[in-house]
This record gives sequence, structure tokens and C-alpha cells, in this order.
Amino acid sequence: MADRPPRKASKAEFCKLDPQVVESDGKARTWITRGGNFAVAVSEVDAGARLERDANPEEYMVILPPGNASARIEAGGDAIDAQADSLTIVPPGRSRITVTSNGLIARIFSKASEDIMALAGNADTYADGAPELAPPTLWPEPYDGYRLRHYPLAQYAKPDGERIQPRVFRSTNMLVNLFVHYKTRRDTSQLSPHWHDDFEQASLTLNGRWVHHMRYNWGPNLASWVPDDHAEMSTPSVIIIPATVVHTSRDVGEGESSLYDIFCPPRLDFARKKGFVINEAEYPLPDAPEDDTIKTGGSLLAWQKPG
Ligand SMILES: [Fe+2]
Repeated sequence: MADRPPRKASKAEFCKLDPQVVESDGKARTWITRGGNFAVAVSEVDAGARLERDANPEEYMVILPPGNASARIEAGGDAIDAQADSLTIVPPGRSRITVTSNGLIARIFSKASEDIMALAGNADTYADGAPELAPPTLWPEPYDGYRLRHYPLAQYAKPDGERIQPRVFRSTNMLVNLFVHYKTRRDTSQLSPHWHDDFEQASLTLNGRWVHHMRYNWGPNLASWVPDDHAEMSTPSVIIIPATVVHTSRDVGEGESSLYDIFCPPRLDFARKKGFVINEAEYPLPDAPEDDTIKTGGSLLAWQKPG
């Protein structure tokens, strides 16, 4: 094992941080948190705010949380009036989001969006290029080519269903799991401490309070060992969980809670699980050896296991 101190989790609680970007008209304030291969940009927006990309090199995702902002999203000659509680995949190139009602908007960018990566509040954490991670390979283009793809999310929630309802979508360059929001708290006898060998996980939480339990591997140098971390975080917030760190998250306190997981590049284990990725019919799988599939270990819930 390399004698390198482990990379620490990045934690961004927006109520404790200044936004990295404030639009000149003051209508959008954006907090940017990066991992090795992606960045999560969460914007507090007023109606009329415009979030534009002149020439984004790859697809990016736009999450409009429930009970929150709505926006017109334009790209590739198409336009969509996106309501709250939706996900939109934006094609490479020029695009514009025009906010039509106040709230929060989350955008997920890949490493190829170098300007966004450089703006991240935790950019210094990744100055070494994160050599422990698998490279962010781009998966094959969608069957019908790049275009705006829009998914209203309520249709994928079962009001009387299981407490944990994963809702997974992917693009050529990332995969998100937008869990149905929670009304009750996680059973602390049913946690799922696990790790990922060579990729990171961002957990974006917009409602409630969350405790992210994390255990770091020991290396040969005692001086570099990191104590167990049981970070309790307010929302909205983002945590970047490094590769190999054992982790499990639980919500605490009262009321509604929400958590969205983000992986970049997409996870092969999830993508190969038939029927698990909601928009799987739109994107071809990459050619990859079967033994590349599993990069996750530990205690897994049934839905987390490969199909
Ligand atoms: Fe995980």
C-alpha cells in the first residue's frame, strides 16, 4: 500500500460557506464542490436567473428538487419547461437554464468541464489529480444521438412502497441515484457500511439532517491514520466520500429528508443490472470485461448488489 495519507472527505454545508459564484445580476448563488472526476454545483436561484454554458464538452445533469425551482432548459435547438421534481440531461455544447420560479437547482458536471472544476471550493483537495481513481472514461453515445432528455420524477415514486426507493439514471459520463424523499428515519439495525475500490461517491442532501459514518483504511504510517468520522451535516450540503472509505449514511431528526448519490463515470455494476437504470434503453453499455463489474465491497442492501 502506498504510504500516502488517505484523501479526506470533502464536506460542504452551504449555510457555513460563501457561494463560489454569484451571478452579476445577483439572481443566482452557486456552491461548487468537486470530486476527482466531477463537480456538484448547487444554486439558490430567483426567477429570471440564467445559468448558461457556452460550450460544455460533455453531457451534464440538472436536478430540480420537489417543491422547488422550475426552469426553461434550452440546448441543441430544443427547449423544455422543466418543473420541480425532475431530472434533465443536457447535451454537450451550448445550453441555457432560465429560472421561472425561485428555489434550488443542482447541476452535475464531469471533469471535462474544467472551468467548473477549477471554481470548486475544495479544488485544493484534488491538486494531485486523484491518482487513486479509475479514469473518467466516456461511455458510448446515446442510440439516438445527443439531445435534451427530461424525466419528471414523481412517476417513479411509490407513495406506499419501500422506505428506500432507488431511482437511477445515467448518461455517457455519470450516474445518479435520486432516492425518493424520506418521511421516516433509517433503521439503525439495517445500515449498509460498504466501500468503493476506485471511485468516489458524492451524496447531495437537500432536506433534513444527515450523519455520514466513515472509516478510513489504515496505511503503514500510524501518523497518517484517520479516526472514524461520524459527520452530522445540515442541509443543503454535499459530501464527497473518497474511494476505499467504508461509509453509510442515516438521517436524523424530524420531517422530510433527502439524499441523492452521484457517481462519475457511471457505475458498471448498476448499469449492467437489467431494469435498474430507468433510462437504460437510451444508452448503450460500454465493452468491458465481466470482471470489471464489481468495485464495491462490504454490507450491501439487496438493491445495491449486482443483478
Ligand atoms: Fe457508496
